Amino acid sequence: MTDKKASLLIEGHDNVDFPIYEGTIGPDVIDVRSLTSKGFFTYDPGFVSTAACESKITYIDGNQGILLHRGYPIDQLASESDYLETCYLLLKGELPNKAQKEEFVETIRYHTMVHDQINNLFKGFRRDAHPMAIMCGVVGALSAFYHDTLDITDERQREISAMRLIAKIPTLAAMSYKYSIGQPFIYPDNELDYSANFLHMMFGTPCEKSNISPVLAKAMDRIFLLHADHEQNASTSTVRLTGSTGANPYACIAAGIAALWGPSHGGANEAVLEMLEEIGDESRIDEFVAKAKDKADPFRLMGFGHRVYKNFDPRAKVMKETADEVLKELGLEDDPLLKIAKRLEQIALEDPYFIEKKLYPNVDFYSGIILKALGIPTSMFTVIFAVGRTVGWISHWNEMISGDYRIGRPRQLYTGAPQRDFVKVEDR
Ligand code: CMC
Repeated sequence: MTDKKASLLIEGHDNVDFPIYEGTIGPDVIDVRSLTSKGFFTYDPGFVSTAACESKITYIDGNQGILLHRGYPIDQLASESDYLETCYLLLKGELPNKAQKEEFVETIRYHTMVHDQINNLFKGFRRDAHPMAIMCGVVGALSAFYHDTLDITDERQREISAMRLIAKIPTLAAMSYKYSIGQPFIYPDNELDYSANFLHMMFGTPCEKSNISPVLAKAMDRIFLLHADHEQNASTSTVRLTGSTGANPYACIAAGIAALWGPSHGGANEAVLEMLEEIGDESRIDEFVAKAKDKADPFRLMGFGHRVYKNFDPRAKVMKETADEVLKELGLEDDPLLKIAKRLEQIALEDPYFIEKKLYPNVDFYSGIILKALGIPTSMFTVIFAVGRTVGWISHWNEMISGDYRIGRPRQLYTGAPQRDFVKVEDR
């Protein structure tokens, strides 16, 4: 807390003073909790001005394009670290030393297999089910399999559930894909690292040994790392809100997956590819750019713009480099869809509408391109985002449960009918 106070003058009422809190970095926060006792609520649809919690995990400065995990810049983590080390950092607050890292990696590696009866759950889904629909159901169902980690007041149980989720989510993600294409599930291979193992479970078959290129495994790892956490976004806030009721971690992560599914959030990378397919040819790009600029048309250029980043998305910068590496490795520079993407990026970066509104390609624009190049079907894009983000969700959930928290309960500005008497059906 600082000595500074904010004062609110409400016509016809006494002045109300509020304490101001100072974070390590970032804007100060006015504590308006006492306002309800004065008979008022704040009105902030979309929570654009509301800090819903205190957190030590991730810091974002959208105007400067800064993203820090536990203080470390995302570009340094992307170039110097790897996904599992970043998971350790997010979960525990510090980078691991060599021995801690080895132990963590081994623990995750040896918990990638899922309970065998989970296979039966998949059979209940229609063959053409969207993999995100399967993930919402199957991840929530983990709470029916791992009863030994449902006591959220036990720190050790919370830790085990975090490890389980990080270890098993790629296996479930790959299973949801295999199920949708009618291929047998592929067991994890504990010889492989986390990201290579995911590609092995996605693309391997029982008849052939999968041969995972290190460049592609590294690209996959970077996609997971760049999606690992993003402060209080819609899905993380959903996980916190769900967790604030005392719900178990698997149920909370399933809620996060559901929130991520929407095209304004994690569904954007899938929407990017669908848009590129709809454009279909470079000659139609101008038509789509015009549609995006037309206020009367709800169409938006998917993969452009961000609620928080208003200059550039620091994750997009690293993702773009990875996209170039992957396209080169796979010799895909001439792929027609990827050519449309490159041209669209160039046009939007030069167009005054996008420049004035600060609409830059975001992380999902490039991750969509990379995933397509890796041969991952569009329906799996958001699932992959969910795999990477699981550590962020569980870190925030754990941070909340470890501290003082209350059930989340936003208020409203009611504009419906005032109280009125019920009218019998024959009199209406
Ligand atoms: N194409 C065309 N116009 C756009 C776009 C776009 N992609 N994004 C925003 N605008 C316009 C919007 O019409 C509005 O114009 P005006 O001021 O004339 O009314 C202005 O820019 C501000 O838009 P907003 O909706 O108030 O901005 P927001 O901060 O609420 O929305 C967003 C952010 C990401 C939902 C939005 O930019 C969008 O819909 N982008 C496309 C979807 C997308 O790529 N989402 C992934 C986000 S990154 C992944 C993640 O972190 O989850």
